[in-house]
Amino acid sequence: MKNLGILLSGRGSNFEAIAKNVAAGRIPNAKISVVISNRADAGGIATAQRLGITALVIPSKGKGRESHDREVAAALQQHKVDFVCLAGYMRLLSPWFVRQFPYKILNIHPSLLPAFPGLEAQEQAFAYGVKVTGCTVHFVDEELDHGPIIVQKTVPVLDTDDEHSLAARILEQEHIAYSEAINLVLHRKFKIEGRRLKLIS
Ligand code: GRF
Repeated sequence: MKNLGILLSGRGSNFEAIAKNVAAGRIPNAKISVVISNRADAGGIATAQRLGITALVIPSKGKGRESHDREVAAALQQHKVDFVCLAGYMRLLSPWFVRQFPYKILNIHPSLLPAFPGLEAQEQAFAYGVKVTGCTVHFVDEELDHGPIIVQKTVPVLDTDDEHSLAARILEQEHIAYSEAINLVLHRKFKIEGRRLKLIS
């Protein structure tokens, strides 16, 4: 059994999709052992409580990055977390935190990286006029939206789209992509050559 720890700051729809897939047996041998938010008002915390999943709020306000990260890491270790899933976690992680969990931290980003890193990626893609965008699940390294890619899903940009309809269709794919990536890192054998993740079995 592998324990997942989810870090989030807001709505928590990616967390909820993962939780549903775990409950339905679509991510075998996995358990969400803790959900941690840096914001007390995160919708994801209420969802965790509703689902009976341990939920913690560790406020970040007024704290140095690394000292907050040390509190979060201690909570993750206390809950015996094997993999950390960032799901709308609006904090940059300190290099110290990243080093505690090498190739054990996953993030989801709503664009086809390396295009449109950072905030409001869907709006960035829409404004740029790309015809295809999507989402990326990747390992976290010390740079923003940067580590080796695990799964990507494409989404066409339609002439009838606005930023909101596009973001909604990307989100549907995010909910599929994240569980697929978790299954891959949990249950497949892979190696990482440079930036490339290659499946071995
Ligand atoms: C998603 O679009 C995710 O890609 C980005 O933040 C958003 C979080 O949404 N990192 P939710 O809180 O999972 O609903």
